[in-house]
Amino acid sequence: MLSDLARQIILFSSRSAEIQSSLSWLTDLRTFSASSESENSRTNSISHFTRPESVREHLTASVKALSVNFLSAEDYLPVMDIESCMLGRRSIRAYRHGDVPDAVIRFGLELANAAPSAGNLQAREFIVVTEESVKKALSEAALGQEGPIAAPVCVVFCANLERIESYGRRGSDLYVLQDVAASIENFLLYIHSQGFGAVWIGAFNESGVSRALRLPHYIRPLAIVPVGIPGEVPSPPSKRPLDEMVHRETWSD
Ligand SMILES: Cc1cc2nc3c(=O)[nH]c(=O)nc-3n(C[C@H](O)[C@H](O)[C@H](O)COP(=O)(O)O)c2cc1C
Repeated sequence: MLSDLARQIILFSSRSAEIQSSLSWLTDLRTFSASSESENSRTNSISHFTRPESVREHLTASVKALSVNFLSAEDYLPVMDIESCMLGRRSIRAYRHGDVPDAVIRFGLELANAAPSAGNLQAREFIVVTEESVKKALSEAALGQEGPIAAPVCVVFCANLERIESYGRRGSDLYVLQDVAASIENFLLYIHSQGFGAVWIGAFNESGVSRALRLPHYIRPLAIVPVGIPGEVPSPPSKRPLDEMVHRETWSD
């Protein structure tokens, strides 16, 4: 419970001035949703981006359990601007005791699949793992990295090579890797925005992971992502100067 409170304090620290405008954005969203009910496609796409009731219920229960009466359930919903989310996300490899609500994983995966994909083929599959024996097998396949065991839940992001077949070699060698990578980043950002922590694990033995998850031959595991309550606050890693990476018009040394 304390860690829940700590997460909320972090999420709300120095943000109170912005909460009102963020909430008005949510209100606008609801008004827009309601006013366009006849326009099915728009309503559907908007409803994709409102937080599901199950996530709201979980957060409301946490507020009640903490006796934090000065916040309504709506106020309590963590709000983070996209820049803070992108800059604040860190690879989290240590976790505190405690679960990640299913609803958070599920909505995170909805957002993962909101990422672009070649031809909108969505040639990606997400395997959610909570069983200890399977997490142990994932850790072993990941060269002994402990994240998969330490975290309460792991998501294994996979490429579906059958679904990308129509794009030939370029599809299987390039597009599908990009499709899955884009979905992983969406997921990581959402997980961070909700106060949880995750890490993208790419160093693993593929056949070990395929065996552990009983994957068919056309499903290629690309990343193991353990998710949990952060047990560390890593310093931001150093970054190359942008001017060294940005080239204008043509390549320049
Ligand atoms: C393709 C890829 C593979 C990665 N594999 C691992 C891994 O096997 N184990 C790990 O601890 N971190 C892994 N990472 C996380 C990186 O180490 C981390 O993103 C990087 O150090 C920058 O830190 P940050 O994520 O906190 O910004 C991987 C990241 C990417 C994008």
